[in-house]
Amino acid sequence: MSLANKNILLGVTGGIAAYKAPDLVRKLTAEGANVRVVLTDSASEFVSPMSLQAVSGNPVHQHLLDADAEAAMGHIELAKWADILLIAPATANTMAKLAHGLADDLLTTLFLATTATVYIAPAMNQQMWKAPATQRNLSVLETSGITMLGPDSGEQACGDVGTGRMLEPLDIVRAISVPRNQELAGMNVVITAGPTREPLDPVRYISNHSSGKMGYAIAQAARLAGANVTIISGPVALTTPPGCQRIDVITAEEMLNKAKAEATNCDIFIATAAVADYRAAEVADNKLKKSSDELTLTFVKNPDILATIAALEDGPFTVGFAAESQNVEAYAKDKLIRKKLDMIAANDITREGLGFNSDDNALHVYWQTGDAELPTGKKSELAKSLLSLVATHYKNKKSG
Ligand code: C5P
Repeated sequence: MSLANKNILLGVTGGIAAYKAPDLVRKLTAEGANVRVVLTDSASEFVSPMSLQAVSGNPVHQHLLDADAEAAMGHIELAKWADILLIAPATANTMAKLAHGLADDLLTTLFLATTATVYIAPAMNQQMWKAPATQRNLSVLETSGITMLGPDSGEQACGDVGTGRMLEPLDIVRAISVPRNQELAGMNVVITAGPTREPLDPVRYISNHSSGKMGYAIAQAARLAGANVTIISGPVALTTPPGCQRIDVITAEEMLNKAKAEATNCDIFIATAAVADYRAAEVADNKLKKSSDELTLTFVKNPDILATIAALEDGPFTVGFAAESQNVEAYAKDKLIRKKLDMIAANDITREGLGFNSDDNALHVYWQTGDAELPTGKKSELAKSLLSLVATHYKNKKSG
């Protein structure tokens, strides 16, 4: 892993996890980063500017309207200096301010003034994390392309148990570092994951049982293999793997639009999403009423997202999934050819304890000239093996 010569602006806000900030700074500098720290007023109640100055080797920035600090390195200069803005810990209050573009202190002003890649590591009480307002702010930040790191689950300083702990400093450093000599170093990988939901009326939809676990496991493995990862995700109950960017969508059409936009800068496109095959021909404006004994709805076919991306000229290396209940090999190979894919991973959904919603799976991978069996295992392990195959075949294709 490396952060060699990266300029990292570390924003520390006022939560108990701020006591870990000096350790985080040490770990960032150990990877070769230049670190400057910005403390909010309440953060300085938890951690002293002096210790952060000592470990970072730079003066700590605290106030927006400070003539001396502005003379040394003005806030716009500081915003331009940064390659990465990392806010750890980020309180619920700071997340709210960032989501709404408030700029009433140095850190929130820098956030608006910088073009650096932004990472946020939230830390707060589990109930504050669950609060609808925090979840809305989270979704605003994620859809603006900001990468969230955690939070983790477990015991909290206040005695509660739940989600809201700051990721450990080492995990934060790993998530933002560029892995060295990794199979997918620097590659842009886009992954569709989870189900889509197709509305019937303002309150109802059709969907499927996809949990998104396989796609998220691949996203995490791709990130660890050095890729820049974007997950285009249908509605799932999973946290975004550290260091991955996530774009939330609901319907197949939204997923297609985001996939087309992301495909312009993508090396490898992996479609794990269980896209609904059909959507209602017309979505009723009002709630459908229970009147007759039978209800007939007309459905129309959804676009095939993966086939659309595979048909692009100079498009990415494409990997599809085939969940089959019979003739697994024949159906998978048919999809490989019909959708013009580079690779397809097939699984037999009739095998007990595997596939949908499970943590385990077994895959058989096919490409034009061969195949490989990836035996039953944790989705995280399968994801690694699959990505190794992808990396090899991607390189073969590039070298012609
Ligand atoms: O045709 P089938 O749905 O079985 O194909 C499965 C593969 O195609 C998966 O990789 C899935 O993510 C992708 N797919 C898609 N858009 C659709 C249907 C399937 O991207 N509308």
